[in-house]
Amino acid sequence: MPKIHFSSPLDDVTVEVKPGTPILEAAEACGAQVGHSCGGVCACSTCHVWVRKGLESLSEQQDDEIDRLDMAFDVKPTSRLSCQATVGSEDLEVFITEESLKAYMDENPDVRRRLEAEGKWPVNK
Ligand code: FES
Repeated sequence: MPKIHFSSPLDDVTVEVKPGTPILEAAEACGAQVGHSCGGVCACSTCHVWVRKGLESLSEQQDDEIDRLDMAFDVKPTSRLSCQATVGSEDLEVFITEESLKAYMDENPDVRRRLEAEGKWPVNK
């Protein structure tokens, strides 16, 4: 099964998933801090990630995802919405964007408060 390595300024975590799994579902399975304000229905852009390895192996982008990514911050050629991109047969390196990390902290105030108390959030660039 392909492995996905998630990274951000806060954390690194790796998970194995079946091909066809949405990246967001993989993130939730391993506790990677990917925001998802709309619940994974392609109605926000808070699940925006940069796929640094294995991009070509992902499911093809549909028009909805392309339109929604137009509203995201720091869009790059490696950008995908993690709720829409499903895993192929290759391992992936996925970087969680600042936009997505901020959304995750808004969705998980307990985690945010703990990281603030530890001096780890907000992240200094
Ligand atoms: S969670 Fe909203 S577009 Fe992916």
